[in-house]
Amino acid sequence: MGWNPWNFAQCTDWNETLFYRTALYLNTSGMASLGYRYVNIDDCWMADSRDAMDNLAWNASRFPSGIPALANYVHSLGLKLGLYLCAGNKTCALKPGSLRYEAQDIALVSSWGVDLVKVDNCYNEGLLPETRYVRFTDAIGNVTRPILFMLCNWGEYIPALFAPMFANSWRTTYDLRDDYTYMLKMADWNDVSHIYAGPRSGWNDPDMLQVGNGNMTLDEYTTHMSLWALMKAPLLIGTNVLNMTNATAALLTNPEVIRINQDPLGIQGFKRTSEDGKEVWAGLLSGGAIAVALVNRLPTPALVTVQWYNVNLTSETGCRIRDVWARTYVTGVFSSNFTANVTAHGTKLLILQPALQIAYNKTANASAF
Ligand code: GLA
Repeated sequence: MGWNPWNFAQCTDWNETLFYRTALYLNTSGMASLGYRYVNIDDCWMADSRDAMDNLAWNASRFPSGIPALANYVHSLGLKLGLYLCAGNKTCALKPGSLRYEAQDIALVSSWGVDLVKVDNCYNEGLLPETRYVRFTDAIGNVTRPILFMLCNWGEYIPALFAPMFANSWRTTYDLRDDYTYMLKMADWNDVSHIYAGPRSGWNDPDMLQVGNGNMTLDEYTTHMSLWALMKAPLLIGTNVLNMTNATAALLTNPEVIRINQDPLGIQGFKRTSEDGKEVWAGLLSGGAIAVALVNRLPTPALVTVQWYNVNLTSETGCRIRDVWARTYVTGVFSSNFTANVTAHGTKLLILQPALQIAYNKTANASAF
C-alpha cells in the first residue's frame, strides 16, 4: 500500500516538493498507519542521459536536493521510497532504460536508499520478459538492502505463469484508465489469474488506483475500490492526496475495506456468478468469514443476490452480515442467501460471518482459553 503520482501527474512539471509534502501528509493524516507507506516515484525522474560513469542520474531541476535526501526524509517519517526503472533500452517516456545495466542500476538505487522498484516493459527489443526480469531478481538478491520488486510487464495474458519466480507483484493488465467500463475490463483480466496470488507467491497487480481522479462517479469509484480490495491488489493511491475531497478520502481510508485487502490469508477474491450485469465476487478471509462484493454493472439500481452455495458456505449456515462501506451490521441472521438493492454501477461490500463462528468465539471468550 502506498502512493504513486503517475495517474494524475504523469510527466507534467512536478518536482520533489510533491513528494516531500505527500510523505508528510501520509504520516500526519494517519494514512500511513492505515498501511499507505510506500511513496513511489514513477517515470520522468531521470536526467535525459546517463552520467560520465554510465550511471543513471536524477533530473536536477525536478530533484534539486537529490533522491538520497528524499529517501532519508521519507525514512525519517517511517515510510518507504519506491522508484521506477524499465527493463528495456528506454523508459516509456524515453528516459534511459536499464536493459544491460540491471546490476549497476539496482546497486546504485539501493545505495540511494530505495525500498521498492517498479520495473516497466517499454523498448524491450523483443526479448522475453523471463530473460530480462530475472536479471533484476538476481541484482536485487545481490544487494543487502531489502527491495520490493514490482514487475510492470503489461501485455501478458497470464503473467503469473512466470512472474512469481522473479517478483513480489506483477502487472496483469494494461494501464488502468479513469473510466468505469475500462476499469471493469481490467478487473476481469486480473480475475483470470486469481489462483496464482498469495503470500507465498506474490500478487496480481491490476494497476494503481484511479479513485479520486474525477472521471467516475462515487458509486463507480466504490466499485473500483471494493474490487481492488477484494482481489488483494496492491493499493497504490493514484490521486493527489494533498487536495482530495472528503469523499475520496473516505473511499481510500475505510479501515474495514483495507482489512479485507490486507487479510493475512491473502486469498484473492474472484467472480462467482454473473447474470445480466449483476455479479457476485467473493473471497475467503482468515477466521472463516467471507468477503462478498455485490456488483451492479447496470446504469439503474438493481437487486443483487448472493447464494451461500456460490461462496463456500452451506445453505444452512446462519450468518451475520457486515455492510463494510456503511460500517454497520444488517439486522438479523441470514441463511441460504441475501439480497441487496445496489445503486447504478455501484457495489455493496459485505462480510458474511458464519454464526457457528460467532458462537465459537463467544465460548472461547467466556472460558478464556
Ligand atoms: C507504463 C506503465 C505506467 C507508467 C508509465 C510511465 O505505461 O505501465 O504505469 O509507469 O509507463 O511512462
